[in-house]
Amino acid sequence: MKDVGYIQGFSKLSKESKIEWLIENYFDDPGRSLDLLRSYWHNDVAVQKLHDEFIENTVSNYYMPYGIAPNFLVNGKMYCLPMAIEESSVVAAMAKAANFWVERGGFKARVISMKKIGHVHFVWRGTDKSELQQFFANIQQRFFDETDDITHNMRLRGGGILDVELIDRSDLEPNYYQIKGTFETCDSMGANFINTILEKWAEILEFQAQRDPALIDRHIEIIMCILSNYTPECLVRAEVSCPVESLTSGTEMDANDFAEKFVRAVHCAEIEPYRAVTHNKGIMNGVDALVIATGNDFRAVEACAHAFAARDGRYRSLSHVLVEDGVFRFWIEIPLSLGTVGGITSLHPMVKFSHELLGHPNAEELMEIIASAGLAQNFSALRSLTTTGIQKGHMKMHLLNILNQLEATQAEKDQIIDYFRDKVPSYQNTLDAFCMVRGISREELVRTKGM
Ligand code: MEV
Repeated sequence: MKDVGYIQGFSKLSKESKIEWLIENYFDDPGRSLDLLRSYWHNDVAVQKLHDEFIENTVSNYYMPYGIAPNFLVNGKMYCLPMAIEESSVVAAMAKAANFWVERGGFKARVISMKKIGHVHFVWRGTDKSELQQFFANIQQRFFDETDDITHNMRLRGGGILDVELIDRSDLEPNYYQIKGTFETCDSMGANFINTILEKWAEILEFQAQRDPALIDRHIEIIMCILSNYTPECLVRAEVSCPVESLTSGTEMDANDFAEKFVRAVHCAEIEPYRAVTHNKGIMNGVDALVIATGNDFRAVEACAHAFAARDGRYRSLSHVLVEDGVFRFWIEIPLSLGTVGGITSLHPMVKFSHELLGHPNAEELMEIIASAGLAQNFSALRSLTTTGIQKGHMKMHLLNILNQLEATQAEKDQIIDYFRDKVPSYQNTLDAFCMVRGISREELVRTKGM
């Protein structure tokens, strides 16, 4: 197998040679593939170089649409949300929710806490646990003192190490212990800061163990040092509320009936994991689009949100609703570990644009904006699901994707969009409409377009 498409030292080749090798080995029409890759290069060489250097083996760029949802009111401040996302209806749904809530006081959000966590995972093979506890107590202060230089700048900004603990996990795995650090990383996401400290802690642990009179080092073995992307204490809450009578459904449905149905829909997601996953996926549509647009780590945010959703042992909705005394309240609590400095925030031109668009929020404000965006997205989805059904809005937006796949002309698109103004498009009836407008049969469509 090694001779076909196998290469050693790919990363050492020049960008040109990488592309040459790639298209010669994997593509039928090398000229076309080469043109395609090149067509996605930035025409400013410096900007392209920046992108090339974000990761290894860059051969081109991968575009995502960058859309705007205006009129988004959070804590009395108006925002235009930058959203990087490919799914057709997400920006439209966000804009709709923004317009709905801007007339009802907007989103109220607050950060509950900002703590981040990291661990030195290690094995201790001793038998008398009090020895290890005593050893830890003796050296605990060193974890602060001997990382002074690393934490200096962060402390000036109001952050640093909040706590260091010895954790016994030997109930889960024989001889498994941790040094657990709790950190405040202010406006940075903090991964590099935390990991640097943890690696220093591992050195301290090993070094001090060698000097311990109880020769504790014979029993200590570092497994790894890494921050945890599970940050249940880096938590933000966002809420909307209004009198039930002003809760228009956007349909003929009575406001009370709509509220009742909405509450039931949220309850389904609170108790039924199959529904909860989809419900939370809808929340993450809004969250991820902003997390990506602001240059944050959406994989970390996703992993954490879902672990948080399952924190009591059952996967549940991240959002909740209550109707009490004629008032509808809808809220979300979600852990969001975000940065507004560091990473690619000051490098990627579009990320910089997003931060400027949002008025250069600090990490707390960004958490509040993004939690609100998740709630807004969830509100829009539930509103559609409990009234018109999701396909009406979704397929309206997806219609253009199908028409683009069919290579419809602008005139054909306009005619077909007009045709669907009072109908719900589906894949099949869009093909029918296209055939009708172009004056061809379905057989001919299959023959010419394979659809
Ligand atoms: C689709 O991307 C998201 C929804 O499925 C969310 C939901 O069902 O709540 C519409």
